[in-house]
Amino acid sequence: MKPDHERALQAVEAALQTADAPAQKLTAACRILQQLPGYTGVYLYALEEDTLVLKAFHGRVTEHTRIPSGKGICGASVQTRAPVVVTDVGSDPRYLACNLETQSEIVFPILRGDAYLAQIDVDSDDRAAFGADDEAFLARVAERLAPLF
Ligand code: SME
Repeated sequence: MKPDHERALQAVEAALQTADAPAQKLTAACRILQQLPGYTGVYLYALEEDTLVLKAFHGRVTEHTRIPSGKGICGASVQTRAPVVVTDVGSDPRYLACNLETQSEIVFPILRGDAYLAQIDVDSDDRAAFGADDEAFLARVAERLAPLF
């Protein structure tokens, strides 16, 4: 893992060990991730029946606080049960826009066995901001966050 990803993972682990309530731990994790270069907005959605429900975020406010599991880049990850990386949101018809600045996006599932519990959604104002190193990093973060869902 890249050194800044390693440091962020350690900071998330430390934040999860505080006495805060689960909602505060989730917000702390978003805040830590959002400090990484290119991570303009970080959102944690829980899958509740067929709807993704926003539980915590850091960055720009989004109007998409509830997303049906078939809609958007976020919903596409639920359908495929896999990460989704979009290098240019403007050319992806699935994209649900939150603002005009976002250029690229990654959605990473939080799973427990076969169960799709939640997802980490990161928006970037940079084109093609996310790659294999971000997927490897977010996989580690997702493992840490899974017990909170
Ligand atoms: N862009 C997402 C919607 C959620 S916001 O990015 C926070 C999508 O297309 O599903």
